[in-house]
Amino acid sequence: MKIRVLGSAAGGGFPQWNCNCHNCHRIRHQQMNGKARTQSSIAVSTDNRNWLLFNTSPDIRAQLEAFPAIQPQEGIRDTGIKAIMLMDSQIDHTTGLLMLREGKPLDIYCSDMVKDDLTSGFPVFNMLSHYCTVNHHAIPIDGSSFTVPGIDDIRIYSQALKSKAPPYSPHRYDPHDGDNVGVIIEQISTGKKAFYSPGLGEIEPHVMAAMQAADCVMVDGTFWTDDEMVTQGISHKRARDIGHLPQSGEGGMIEVLGTIGEKRKILIHINNTNPILDEDSAEYATLTAAGIEVAYDGLEIDL
Ligand code: MLT
Ligand code: MN
Ligand code: ZN
Repeated sequence: MKIRVLGSAAGGGFPQWNCNCHNCHRIRHQQMNGKARTQSSIAVSTDNRNWLLFNTSPDIRAQLEAFPAIQPQEGIRDTGIKAIMLMDSQIDHTTGLLMLREGKPLDIYCSDMVKDDLTSGFPVFNMLSHYCTVNHHAIPIDGSSFTVPGIDDIRIYSQALKSKAPPYSPHRYDPHDGDNVGVIIEQISTGKKAFYSPGLGEIEPHVMAAMQAADCVMVDGTFWTDDEMVTQGISHKRARDIGHLPQSGEGGMIEVLGTIGEKRKILIHINNTNPILDEDSAEYATLTAAGIEVAYDGLEIDL
């Protein structure tokens, strides 16, 4: 299977429109060895023509324009997007649906909780009923599997994760299983597996098992430290409060990734405040030494 990183940044992208933090300032002024990034999403295919999107970012228009394999090829209207799976109902993962309104009905796979949010707090499904319409497909949240018509040779195992529902969700302060999910994406014929979870607040036993079983993990790379936005004077929110496990420190993502064996380990959904965006930083060197990659837009993984 091929995995294409359409976007690798967290909400806001990099640089963020109104942000003058150390990273955003330097990338704008060509003073940093790093890459600008759009908001997080990946696409998966086994035939290079029919793609399953995981999340639809507000930057989807630019992401599709940068990716010829998914562009129209036949007839007056066409796309390589065959279906969409949503990991949560966050703005950075769902507003791109509005940009796809000119097309055919959208086949959208998500949990009942995510559907709940997208028909209430952020009623994008209701809005789209006046344009392309949505065919909603409920997914399991207990780790069992499903397949997607049109996406050959791929099986998805989806499981509930501990992270956070967005601020507009009716379940923001009343967490439910399915507010966030992680997936194992398996190519049926080869048995190769990728674990994808751009929002991961806690490493529960079933998450650890999924990471150990996978040949490639693509996980939450939002923050380096828990208090990153606090110390930079950007927000009072801490990483763990908003459902993201930081990379550094005891029990952090680097330590976790050190226990899952040899495989490709890739951080995705990087916040613009994170020092790992600077490829000359000590933090980036720490990741490299630990065998951990930082996803960038356009990265393709052949598994
Ligand atoms: C998150 O995952 O916490 C989001 O990126 C926040 C946002 O989009 O505002
Ligand atoms: Mn996000
Ligand atoms: Zn910034």
